[in-house]
Amino acid sequence: MSRSVDADAIAIRNLNVQRGKKAVLHDVSLSVPRGSITGLLGPSGCGKTTLMRCVVGTQIVESGEVTVLDQPAGSAPLRSQVGYVTQSPSIYSDLTVRDNVAYFGAFYRKTSADVSAAIDSVGLTEHAKHRGDELSGGQRTRVSLACALVADPALLVLDEPTVGLDPVLRVELWDRFAALAAKGTTLLVSSHVMDEAEHCDQLLLMRDGKLLAELPPDELRARTGETSLENAFLSLIRSAGAPT
Ligand SMILES: Nc1ncnc2c1ncn2[C@@H]1O[C@H](COP(=O)(O)OP(=O)(O)OP(=O)(O)O)[C@@H](O)[C@H]1O
Ligand SMILES: [Mg+2]
Repeated sequence: MSRSVDADAIAIRNLNVQRGKKAVLHDVSLSVPRGSITGLLGPSGCGKTTLMRCVVGTQIVESGEVTVLDQPAGSAPLRSQVGYVTQSPSIYSDLTVRDNVAYFGAFYRKTSADVSAAIDSVGLTEHAKHRGDELSGGQRTRVSLACALVADPALLVLDEPTVGLDPVLRVELWDRFAALAAKGTTLLVSSHVMDEAEHCDQLLLMRDGKLLAELPPDELRARTGETSLENAFLSLIRSAGAPT
């Protein structure tokens, strides 16, 4: 074995998931190293959100094993260690930005300074006193992110956190993710935009509920001979054969 079990924040073995009558994840095995950014990429409907729901323990699984920070996914000790920002973030419209974040901070006994730091880290200090219903879509997304960040979880699971953000904000957020990873936080971030893969240490490329590849961006380029990650992903799909 090349890696000790402890080196991985997430270890998934032979995971199968059905939603309704449809098999949505097919025998997925993967690992997510600690203290790094792992990008979960693939087209709409390929199973990214479903996989994340398995990691945070909100998805019924057919078979397989999902281990998170050395515990079974969804187990009680993980509650304070795993932060999850869903694809359609919901915040309290009648509370200010600050009160939204303070509400979540209170669960983890966080201080007022922690709340300020979380708001600042998503660039919303100037809007701290604005109510949820006074914010733009991108600002609401960032409040949601601050609500997850304030707990300072060991693992952050972020489902398409950059959708609806302008390019400048997008780059700023990725910089913040990199800073978090540098201080030891593990981030699992989904996207269907291949450009974003550039910001990740490790990529999980999915299609039709299957994992096509698990590799760093440079290796994806080297394996396919493509310089653009978008083309590299397309090339990988072609070499994987016709869709099932
Ligand atoms: N509640 C549900 N009941 C039945 N099938 C579902 C349900 N939610 C999702 N699915 C199906 O599961 C598959 C995977 O969906 P999932 O939401 O995981 O994809 P995704 O990769 O996150 O897509 P997107 O990029 O659009 O968010 C899709 O084919 C979808 O139709
Ligand atoms: Mg999704």
